[in-house]
Amino acid sequence: MKKTIAVLPGDGIGPEVVKAALKVLDQIAEQYQHQFEYRYADIGGIAIDLHQTPLPQRTLDTCRQSDAILLGAVGGPKWDQLPSHMRPEKGLLQLRKSLQLFANLRPVTCYESLLEASPLKPERIKGVDFVIVRELTGGIYFGEPRERRYDNDEELAIDTLTYTRKEIERIVRKGFELAQVRRKKVTSVDKANVLESSRLWREVVDEVAKEYPEVSYEHMLVDNAAMQLIRQPTYFDVMVTENMFGDILSDEASMLTGSLGMLPSASLSAIGPSLYEPIHGSAPDIAGENKANPLATISSLAMMLKYEFGLEEEAEALDEAIESVLKKGIRTADLASAGVEYHSTEAVTNEVIEQL
Ligand code: NAI
Ligand code: MG
Repeated sequence: MKKTIAVLPGDGIGPEVVKAALKVLDQIAEQYQHQFEYRYADIGGIAIDLHQTPLPQRTLDTCRQSDAILLGAVGGPKWDQLPSHMRPEKGLLQLRKSLQLFANLRPVTCYESLLEASPLKPERIKGVDFVIVRELTGGIYFGEPRERRYDNDEELAIDTLTYTRKEIERIVRKGFELAQVRRKKVTSVDKANVLESSRLWREVVDEVAKEYPEVSYEHMLVDNAAMQLIRQPTYFDVMVTENMFGDILSDEASMLTGSLGMLPSASLSAIGPSLYEPIHGSAPDIAGENKANPLATISSLAMMLKYEFGLEEEAEALDEAIESVLKKGIRTADLASAGVEYHSTEAVTNEVIEQL
């Protein structure tokens, strides 16, 4: 298979984890006879330094013309004082909007050998394996009107929660499609006892569900979902929800698994290539020290292979390689317990390649 990948390393540890991940991808390419062409482009702080904008047109064009996008992370103290339209993070938001990256997939998996890294009891999180499918371009973060004004003498602020049937349908369908290749169970999360948009959401879920008779599904109120995530996290397979609920629940869920340095994500596009990135930021505190955990970015590549290119065997091999590295006790500092020796970004990367 021949594919082009837009590579946006970004700032801080971004370039380090991206370099590590591509080294692993080179190994996959060689082993399974694929050709991956990398097209590098600037985003975030580095793009501000070189091109005076966080998202240069050339970067956007490179992304549009590629089969998938790999991103490291953006931002850092160097650019913190800039006005908001010139901040590194703005580049990422513009990219999400321009490419209509409407579906954010965040798998939450607990690796057997990392059970002690979670704040929850090991027996509670053993076997946790679910995906949150979060709507990313609609809802209360984008609705109009959004304003602050005075009504007589009372100061008030307004945000608007809007969803069209189409917006709901496409994200719900993603959830069901994903469930179909997993354990075939969808939990749709809403607040239908209070919100009109959630009542429309439920109607659409009931309709879409008819197209997937082999997938079982249920509706769950968001407050209950927040509780069940802690009480019984192994219960879930695919959780599909709107933008703000997904934002909050996915941060809650990320704590089940321990380190930020382990968690991948995919943002699927409605119109073009999708974007794959670790959920962590640019970690300026450890940048340049060969200390960053590369596994979140390597897992993001596994998602790309599976969801974007349909290379399931390769993706599985990669996931298994990660699991074996952890089992051998080879870990970067974020995962090593106090007093235990830890390994560099490079050492962990080479070990993944070795396991492959
Ligand atoms: P962060 O995720 O960069 O770091 C939080 C803590 O986790 C730090 O102590 C860091 O050393 C550690 N950490 C993160 N990733 C790690 C990895 N792979 N291996 C080992 N340790 C890791 O979040 P923070 O510090 O709040 O933000 C730093 C910068 O990153 C800011 O400029 C922020 O705006 C930006 N950021 C960018 C994101 C993106 O590009 N998607 C997402 C989140 C933050
Ligand atoms: Mg958030």
